[in-house]
Amino acid sequence: MTPLHYVGGALHLEQVALAAVAARFGTPCYVYSRAAIEATYRAYDAAFGSQPHRVCYAVKASSNLAVLNVLARLGAGFDVVSGGELARVLRARGEALRVVFSGVGKSAEELRQALAAGIACFNVESAAELERLNQVAIQLGLRAPMALRVNPDVDAGTHPYISTGLKENKFGIAAQDALALYRRAASLPGLRVHGIACHIGSQMTDLAPLREAAGRIAALRQALLAEGIAIDHVDLGGGLGIAYRDEVVPSAADYAAAISGPFAGSAVEISIEPGRSIVGPAGVLLTRVEYLKPGDGRNFAIIDAAMNDLLRPALYDAHHAVLPLREAGGEARVWELVGPVCESGDFLAHARSLALAEGDLLALRDAGAYGFAMSSNYNSRPRPAEVMIDGSIVRLIRARETLDDLWRGEQILTD
Ligand code: LLP
Repeated sequence: MTPLHYVGGALHLEQVALAAVAARFGTPCYVYSRAAIEATYRAYDAAFGSQPHRVCYAVKASSNLAVLNVLARLGAGFDVVSGGELARVLRARGEALRVVFSGVGKSAEELRQALAAGIACFNVESAAELERLNQVAIQLGLRAPMALRVNPDVDAGTHPYISTGLKENKFGIAAQDALALYRRAASLPGLRVHGIACHIGSQMTDLAPLREAAGRIAALRQALLAEGIAIDHVDLGGGLGIAYRDEVVPSAADYAAAISGPFAGSAVEISIEPGRSIVGPAGVLLTRVEYLKPGDGRNFAIIDAAMNDLLRPALYDAHHAVLPLREAGGEARVWELVGPVCESGDFLAHARSLALAEGDLLALRDAGAYGFAMSSNYNSRPRPAEVMIDGSIVRLIRARETLDDLWRGEQILTD
């Protein structure tokens, strides 16, 4: 059951009326369902059955400490892409030995930080990074557990900005270079070859590319084995999509079956790095209608959330369903939902049929992933509050930013 539903015409998340959350914490405001986050994590965890596996939540989707802590308590692993994300995981009581570190541009300092913390695996994305990781590990007297992030050259068939598995992308190591680079890795004293990683894209609703990528990784594993390089861990990345509109999304069980098929019967540990699917449907962005500006060509509803709060529509032309917090009886019109930011691209929803009045409260659905995480202070707008619902309990998990937060660290010249 979706945690979002109407009770007596009032939109609820779990057992809490969202209008009460808006009244208490103001708008715009992100609200997450703990039950939804936990249910998706558990579905992934159960889907692999007896195959050794690790669900490493992709921290970039939502990095609030409370979100990370909820997952850490379930035994989740984490996929991080910066020293900042690793620090957040540790601060949220996540375990370093369940962390994998992805990303094309890890600095020496970040490598040191992660080695000292004792993470599970570095997903190395270039020959140059391999050499740097080896050097840093030697300096610290350690051996870095590593995988190469291999680019299986599979088209994820998703938005070009979030498609990462093709050879023209900046990510990963070309499949034909992988063998030679593994040989090099196996010869370096600061490294311990641990796995193979890949991640081909995001918001995928078709399992075929994922199955194809897993097959190519399995073949590479066999080729490495033939050379005496044993791989006991494969990381197949994230990418399972969610139903922003009416997309049909594969279940966790079908997904797990598709990607683990090529490894059936082996004791290899399979890691996945889901982000969007765990937190996306669990979160909404609450906003209030400031002004209605009906016009000749278009009707604009100016809302108090903007592209700085939820960038996805402006950046990817992404669709988020809009639900009124109170089921309206009035006459519907077609509205453009736009924010107060001074950019024509500042829209949150196009052409939605809604019965709106000034002051109405709305929820933008499926905003839990890449929502707050991509927010900014553009136009000097303090970032929204974040709230977690747990049954009937409401908890503030990030205070709305204040004006002082806007200029923290800035200095006026004194001469
Ligand atoms: N692993 C790696 C190495 C990744 O780069 C990503 C996402 C994930 C895992 C998690 O993928 P997911 O399960 O969330 O699809 N801002 C964009 C999405 C960017 C995804 C970047 N990488 C959006 O709002 O749609």
